[in-house]
Amino acid sequence: MVAGPAARSGGALAAGAPGSAPSAADQGGPGGSPLLELSNVEVTYSGVILVLKGINITVPQRGCVALLGPNGAGKSTTLKAVSGVLKTEEGLVSAGQVRFAGERIDTLAAERTVRKGILHVMEGRKVLEHMTVEQNLVAGGHLQRSKDAKESLELTYEYFPRLADLRGRTSGYLSGGEQQMLVIGRALMARPKLMMVDEPSLGLAPLMVEEIFSILHRLRQEDLALVIVEQNTAAALALADYGYVLDNGRIVLDGTAESLRSNEDIREFYLGLGATGERKSFRDIKHYRRRKRWLG
Ligand SMILES: Nc1ncnc2c1ncn2[C@@H]1O[C@H](COP(=O)(O)OP(=O)(O)OP(=O)(O)O)[C@@H](O)[C@H]1O
Ligand SMILES: [Mg+2]
Repeated sequence: MVAGPAARSGGALAAGAPGSAPSAADQGGPGGSPLLELSNVEVTYSGVILVLKGINITVPQRGCVALLGPNGAGKSTTLKAVSGVLKTEEGLVSAGQVRFAGERIDTLAAERTVRKGILHVMEGRKVLEHMTVEQNLVAGGHLQRSKDAKESLELTYEYFPRLADLRGRTSGYLSGGEQQMLVIGRALMARPKLMMVDEPSLGLAPLMVEEIFSILHRLRQEDLALVIVEQNTAAALALADYGYVLDNGRIVLDGTAESLRSNEDIREFYLGLGATGERKSFRDIKHYRRRKRWLG
């Protein structure tokens, strides 16, 4: 699979040699090893509800992968299967494997995956609401030595100047967009190798969505892999190198972000654009949704 521009600079968060261009291996390209690999993954809730029905996803060492699909498709479940959060929700990877940096992780609890560098920013912006912005960030860096944590805090404020201004505020009083920044910033504090962000734009005003995505665009240049789940398909495909479309627990389409952007089904189903480039009415789309399933 293709991932990202040929050369990116190693950014401030880079764990490897600064400024080194990623190799084919970094990209998980031909001959390279991917960072994350889901093979034939099935997920079952409460022992009976089969939600993921054998999915294959590959995430290279760097760049961004988007997971798209309608409500209830299994996008959040996919992220939970990787981070181990599933286990706290009576979910189980009942078949297949999840591998991170070559190692099997589908049996690990969430606290173990965090130590491996997997950070899952869950839907719903769960801030520690009685604590200040800075206390929330410090909590995100708790696994690091204090010197490194201090450096991470400075870097996070560099990414999110708005959080620096709000550092003494009680988090529960922040706006939705500020809280979204805070949970992404808190994940960043742990210097992730893989950051998975579930619906960052949900319920936010367009300007705030723009601000958050511009930060995600910057993060994408760093030495980490991003996986993003989004209903805002246009924004997600502008950010991602590669995308997967899930429907009813199966991957029904995948390809480079560029190919998905020009895919007729995606254009009609998600972007509301017909073959002529005209925006269809909501009524047409609703009709289309009823009529069309990805696997027909
Ligand atoms: N803890 C659970 N127990 C039982 N079923 C669950 C549980 N969590 C999720 N599901 C079911 O699994 C399916 C996939 O849910 P999931 O949250 O992964 O979808 P999604 O693609 O993230 O949807 P959305 O876009 O609405 O967030 C849904 O049918 C949902 O009802
Ligand atoms: Mg979801």
